[in-house]
Amino acid sequence: MFYRAKGLVLLASFAVATGAVASHLGAQEDIPAQPVDTSALPDLGPDQERWLTRNPYRADPATYAKAQQVGQEAFAKNCSRCHGPNAVSAGIFPDLRYLDPREAGDVWFISRFHHGLKRDGKVLMPPLGEALGQKTGWAIRSWLDARHEK
Ligand code: HEC
Repeated sequence: MFYRAKGLVLLASFAVATGAVASHLGAQEDIPAQPVDTSALPDLGPDQERWLTRNPYRADPATYAKAQQVGQEAFAKNCSRCHGPNAVSAGIFPDLRYLDPREAGDVWFISRFHHGLKRDGKVLMPPLGEALGQKTGWAIRSWLDARHEK
């Protein structure tokens, strides 16, 4: 009897938890991207519209440091509500500290940032690239490099 009751309680809390995750995911689509000031970062050449496949801010140390500052703020405003404050995930969404670092993970990172992710017609991650622009994307990527864990 005791075990049965405990099982029911567990089942009930599981249902609540999964319901909460589902509505959490659904509600997120409506939250607009929060603008980020990237004016301190160099523009990306004459062809700004073309999405790069490598972080252009990594080569110059001063620019890289500035990009990390901008990226930290951009992440807090636009990503942390799913991926966790300071990129430490609570477990439901991927923990972005474990992405492949530097060049090895740039393409994967920027394509997710640009296009988001849809599965079975449901938006799991909203596409943020057009709203935020690739300067913001590469700034976040620069900051994530500094947060990388093996
Ligand atoms: C509404 C919640 C949500 C927001 C906001 C969000 N993401 Fe995501 N993101 C997800 C989910 C869910 C996945 C994983 C989907 C899957 O593969 O199952 C994901 C996956 C990713 C991945 C791939 C991770 C991997 O291990 O494969 C990257 C990179 C990423 N997000 C970056 C970002 C960045 C950068 C931002 C902010 C600009 C952001 N996300 C904002 C929900 C979100």
